[in-house]
Amino acid sequence: MSQDTYVENSLPSSVDVAIVGGGIIGLSIAWQLARAGVKTVVVEKNTVGRAASWAAAGMLAPLAEVGFEELEFLKLGRESLAMYPTFLAELEVDSGVAVPLDRRGTLMVSLDRDDTAELRRLFEFRKKLSLPVRWLSGAEARDEEPLLSPKVAAAIDLPDDYQIDNRELLVALEQAVLKCGGKLCEHTSVEKIIVESGRAVALQLDGGEQRQISATKIVVAAGCWSSVIGGLAKDKLPPVRPVKGQILTLRMTTDIALTKVVRSPRVYLAPKFDGRLVVGATSEEMGFDTAPTAGAQLFLLEEAFDAVPAVYELALEEMRVGLRPASRDNEPLIGESPIAQLYYATGHYRHGILLAPATSYAMAAMLTGKKVPEALAPFSPSRFFNVTRFSTALTT
Ligand code: FAD
Ligand code: GLY
Repeated sequence: MSQDTYVENSLPSSVDVAIVGGGIIGLSIAWQLARAGVKTVVVEKNTVGRAASWAAAGMLAPLAEVGFEELEFLKLGRESLAMYPTFLAELEVDSGVAVPLDRRGTLMVSLDRDDTAELRRLFEFRKKLSLPVRWLSGAEARDEEPLLSPKVAAAIDLPDDYQIDNRELLVALEQAVLKCGGKLCEHTSVEKIIVESGRAVALQLDGGEQRQISATKIVVAAGCWSSVIGGLAKDKLPPVRPVKGQILTLRMTTDIALTKVVRSPRVYLAPKFDGRLVVGATSEEMGFDTAPTAGAQLFLLEEAFDAVPAVYELALEEMRVGLRPASRDNEPLIGESPIAQLYYATGHYRHGILLAPATSYAMAAMLTGKKVPEALAPFSPSRFFNVTRFSTALTT
């Protein structure tokens, strides 16, 4: 918690925009609004930036992560990645914190014949879309990344997938919100959204009826908890569920250090500039369970060892669990909710770090009456709700 953090006895009684949840999505939107002069508060039940956004690996990987049916995600993901340099430059000005973009690239590798057949399919899909990818033999892959196992049979080189230190990014966003005049209200849970005459008008906070913040507009950016906020009918809530991800951090040494993100079919290894090697991640349908398990650690370490045997020597620094917010179709909900003056920015599933720039620019535009890019249209929450008030939704 920063020293500037807004404290309970000075809660604003009314704001232009109140945001529920201070993960990467809530903080990015708050920053964009605050820098545009909009009176904004983020209400966070714990410490800002310490849920899924902190656990994440920080890969900005639309080319590696696109699935066969996910062309709209690919478009949005590439647009968001292209926004990152400007996003970070503006963030440095507003926060005083420089967060470097790691452009060292990604290798997707195969470890046996079956993997290689599947990797070839993934390569052909990307080639057909004219994406910047290159097929490498095992030996060529080891030229790029000498620590790869002799078992590595082939690889796809993805020089245009980047990564970032998501924790540095969260610290910078928190600073930027505060320095631009936004308010952060931590350790305060939103118990319900108050709706009057069909419009969202205020947040009811924990600690009694008196603790309310009235707002002209409200944004739910509460990650996987977005579907359990009180005050809304069940059929108006965003259909978001938690998908548990267990992830490890190893400490690289001078001799044992990767430079690129390495993705095997089962795990990824993301080397950070500060010497951390992030190894992730499981994907488990376990509800809100956040217990780390021996089985997951075993799985991650075995699979990492298979791709990069030298990890055996590295110190184990951290084990963490994060809950990804996944919607019913695994795509984000960004835009108007079925309730007037209430907006959803949630369901970013595996891609919230990647999609933060596109989401925050679009939400800030929408909340201030400006035009929203066309790439956002497929992600309108309207796809989940049978209501007529979306007629004014997105424009280009
Ligand atoms: P969160 O970061 O979960 O933030 C939501 C916040 O809302 C929390 O701080 C919570 O305390 C608060 N909140 C909830 N309910 C309330 C309430 N009632 N009142 C007040 N506050 C509330 N994405 C990528 O792009 N690249 C990656 O490499 C990547 N790797 C990942 C690895 C793992 C292991 C995991 C788990 C996720 C990964 N992701 C990655 C996904 C990414 O982390 C998420 O999509 C993103 O963090 C979602 O951000 P968020 O702000 O919506 O949610
Ligand atoms: N995008 C990586 C993960 O969700 O694990």
